[in-house]
Amino acid sequence: MANETADPPEMTAASSSEPERPAQAEVVIETRNLTKIYRDFWGRAKVRALKSLDLEVRQGEIFGLLGPNGSGKTTTIKLLLGLIFPTHGQALVLGKPATDEAKNEKIGYLPEESYLYRFLNAVETLDFYGRLFNMPAKVRKQRAAELINLVGLEGAKRRPLKEYSKGMTRRIGLAQALINDPQLILLDEPTSGLDPIGTREMKDLILELKARGKTIVLCSHLLADMQDICDRIAILHRGELKELGRVDSLLQVTDITQLQIKDLSDEAQEEIEAVLRKHHGELVGVNHPKATLEDLFLRIVRESDDHLGRRVVRELPTETASENGSPEKTDES
Ligand SMILES: Nc1ncnc2c1ncn2[C@@H]1O[C@H](COP(=O)(O)OP(=O)(O)OP(=O)(O)O)[C@@H](O)[C@H]1O
Ligand SMILES: [Mg+2]
Repeated sequence: MANETADPPEMTAASSSEPERPAQAEVVIETRNLTKIYRDFWGRAKVRALKSLDLEVRQGEIFGLLGPNGSGKTTTIKLLLGLIFPTHGQALVLGKPATDEAKNEKIGYLPEESYLYRFLNAVETLDFYGRLFNMPAKVRKQRAAELINLVGLEGAKRRPLKEYSKGMTRRIGLAQALINDPQLILLDEPTSGLDPIGTREMKDLILELKARGKTIVLCSHLLADMQDICDRIAILHRGELKELGRVDSLLQVTDITQLQIKDLSDEAQEEIEAVLRKHHGELVGVNHPKATLEDLFLRIVRESDDHLGRRVVRELPTETASENGSPEKTDES
C-alpha cells in the first residue's frame, strides 16, 4: 500500500506559489479512445456501451461521471478496474494499464450493488476484507475501528449486515472500499437508496476523503448530489462523452449578474432600478432567494431530533389563517 505519492497535497502546495492549480496535479486516470462493445454469445456486437472516451482525472479531485440509465457509467468504472476488457482504446490508472490487476491494491471500489456477506457484522466484514489485503491482525483491528467510526456505524458494529437499512449498507460498503487505505476511490452510485440525511452524510464523507488527499471518481444520475461535491464532471449519453468541465464554470450563467442585498428599502430598490434603466441593463427579476428542499428537510429533521415529540406546523398566512394571525401551531404530545 505504501507508495511514493501517498501524501500529494503537500507536494503541490510546496511546489508552486499558486497552489491548487488543477493543471499541475498529477494525472491519475487517463483514457484514450476507450470503447466497449458488449457482444452476444455468437460474438456479434450487441450493445455499444462506451464510444471513444477520452478523459483525464487528476490527483485530489472529485470527478463525477454523470448520465442517464444505460449511458455507460458502470461500464467505464469496470473498465478502469480491469473487471472487463475494452474493445478498443486503453485506460491508464495510477500509471498502469487498467488491465493490470496489481494496481487495484491502491484502489477502493464501491459497486452499484452490495455484495457483502449478510451474516457477518461490520467488524467481521472489515476484518475479512483486511485479510484479503494480507493486513496483519493488529492493523486490521485498528483500521476496522477507524473506518466504523468514520462511516458512523459505531452503534451497529456488532449487528449482522442482513439487519442493516439501505443507508447503513451503503456506509459499510464504503468502509469496505476504504480498508486498504486506497489512493483512488471509485464509487458507483454512492447515494442511491439513501434518504436526504444519509445522502448529506455520504456527501460529507466523500468531501472528507478528498480533504485527506484521495482522488474520487463517482458516478450517479442524481444531479443535485453531483453538483454539490464534484470538482469536474463528464456527462455521458448513450456511451458518448457530451460535456466535460468544472462544475462551477459549466453552471455559471455569465450574462446575468446577481446582487444579493439584505434589508433593502423600497426606495433604494427604485433608485437601483433607475440606475439600471439608465445603463440599459434589463432587470430580469427581483425576488428573494429560496432555500432548497434539501435544506428545509434537513433543518426540520434536525429540529425534530432536538425537540422529540413536538409537532410544529408552519403555514403561509392565508385568508383562512387563524384569527390571531399566528401562522405557527405547536402541538406538544
Ligand atoms: N454485461 C453486459 N452485457 C450486455 N450489455 C451490457 C452489459 N452491461 C451493460 N450493458 C449495456 O451497456 C449499456 C451501458 O450500461 P451501464 O451499466 O454502463 O450503464 P449505466 O450508465 O451505469 O446505467 P445505470 O444508471 O442504469 O446504472 C446499457 O445499454 C447496458 O444494457
Ligand atoms: Mg450503473
